[in-house]
Amino acid sequence: SEPAADRRDLVGRRIVVTAGGTREPLDPVRFLGNRSSGKQGVAIADAARARGAEVVLIAANLEVADPAGCDIRRVSTALELQAAVTAAAAGVDAVVMAAAVADYRPASVSESKIKKDASDSGLTLELVRNPDILAELGRAPHDGTILVGFAAETEPDDDARLALGRAKRAAKGADLLVLNRVGWTEGFANDENAVTIIGRDDTVVTEVHGAKLSVADAILDVVGSLLTE
Ligand code: CTP
Ligand code: CA
Repeated sequence: SEPAADRRDLVGRRIVVTAGGTREPLDPVRFLGNRSSGKQGVAIADAARARGAEVVLIAANLEVADPAGCDIRRVSTALELQAAVTAAAAGVDAVVMAAAVADYRPASVSESKIKKDASDSGLTLELVRNPDILAELGRAPHDGTILVGFAAETEPDDDARLALGRAKRAAKGADLLVLNRVGWTEGFANDENAVTIIGRDDTVVTEVHGAKLSVADAILDVVGSLLTE
């Protein structure tokens, strides 16, 4: 097939991509965060733009440079990301949820810096659940919009990890789920990625290993084929 860079197969398509990791503030100087750099999501935005799509990138605390030519909307918390996705998603061709969204946020945010007490021996934080943004998109009417979820799992066994991915795709009502294995050293801030793309009928649509930009193109190939189905 043609090199991805020469393809303009997404001209006229509108794609929303979320990238990075949310941060949930505890006080004015602290947050609960995660290790997502935003590289894979930014690579998808970049590749979609290169293939002619109009791209809205919802960027949560990126540790990488902004891609050129995208409409970038900066957010930090899960609730901000949800508001930005909801505002951008209506009627688009695809929503690609590559961002790592915090499952919980502190039940309350302290207006001043939390101080330790000379007598305390620890601190217990109370957290509340954040909305599941992808699952809510999946449940709401989204005629023709392809929903793409991601799952970074530490499960080392390939079959068990695939089963987690299949269950997650179904639970979220996503059309595709991009599954990858992560650990203390694998997956984050790397230029490479190895993913399995799970489709609607629980089939493994494709497995790709390579630079995050080639993985991005492979994901967009699958999205593109669903859009022309
Ligand atoms: N996601 C989301 N909203 C959340 C949490 C996750 O939209 N509050 C999205 C992520 O962007 C990703 C997909 O759901 O595309 C799967 O995220 P993941 O954290 O793997 O799934 P969870 O349902 O949160 O399950 P787990 O308990 O394994 O974290
Ligand atoms: Ca989660």
